Amino acid sequence: MLLTGGSSGIGAELLKALVARRCRVIVWSRRPPTIVSDLVEHEAVDLADTVALDAALDQLTANHPDLSVIINNSGTGEQGRFLTTDPKELDERADTQIAVNLTAPIHIANRLFKPLAEKPSAMIVNNTSGLAVAPTANNPIYCATKAGLRSFTLSMRYQAESHAPNLKIVEILLPVVATPMTTQYKTRKASVEKATQRIVKGLEKGEDEIWVGAAAVLRGVSAIAPGVARWVVKKLAK
Ligand SMILES: NC(=O)c1ccc[n+]([C@@H]2O[C@H](COP(=O)([O-])OP(=O)(O)OC[C@H]3O[C@@H](n4cnc5c(N)ncnc54)[C@H](OP(=O)(O)O)[C@@H]3O)[C@@H](O)[C@H]2O)c1
Repeated sequence: MLLTGGSSGIGAELLKALVARRCRVIVWSRRPPTIVSDLVEHEAVDLADTVALDAALDQLTANHPDLSVIINNSGTGEQGRFLTTDPKELDERADTQIAVNLTAPIHIANRLFKPLAEKPSAMIVNNTSGLAVAPTANNPIYCATKAGLRSFTLSMRYQAESHAPNLKIVEILLPVVATPMTTQYKTRKASVEKATQRIVKGLEKGEDEIWVGAAAVLRGVSAIAPGVARWVVKKLAK
């Protein structure tokens, strides 16, 4: 199994849960994961660097032809305030977020969808966000990357349903979770342990979309009244 972003937050917690279930996990992140286990292999990969990602994919396909599960969990979020941030700085933040949150899972799928489709059973899991459904004011690029990844995941699921029935495409939609990514946020946060337990339960139950905690409420509201869902997220995130 390949897990991106196993060095921190949700990925680190997920890695613990996977190792406890005796899964072999290849972790891609810049920093190594803290967990020490002979089931875990770490490759230092910077997903913002498409050349490095391409080389890592070459190695992965050559060395692990048995790979059947991919969890795209790496993500980065930076604010984008147009009136108070230098445009060049905004460009840099945007390029990094688009590369890590959107381009990397797309390149991974472009390379691995076909080999995974040929396995008797395989899975691609993308960690998007409740913000893919309703954006906030201050994180325009982050929200746009997650909305883009949500759309991409859905298209990928349609292709798998019609042409690769053994390949399951899963999306995780989280609320605000207490991880290093959200330390500056003052809003209510779900615990990383509880959020991860819900993710694992969803994976074990075979859910296509794993809506965690308050994100599940957002799902209900947005199904009935999308405008209300957007208004609530906009106000709560202020
Ligand atoms: N926390 C939340 O409230 C929340 C809500 C919704 C969705 N999510 C999503 O959940 C996922 C995990 O987030 P988190 O909250 O656990 O954040 P986190 O604690 O900051 O962890 C982010 C992970 O992504 C990896 N990553 C970041 N930039 C990378 C890069 N250039 N190359 C490779 N890996 C990179 C980091 O590894 P290195 O730094 O070692 O490279 C780290 O392992 C993200 O996709 C995030 O968007 C989080």
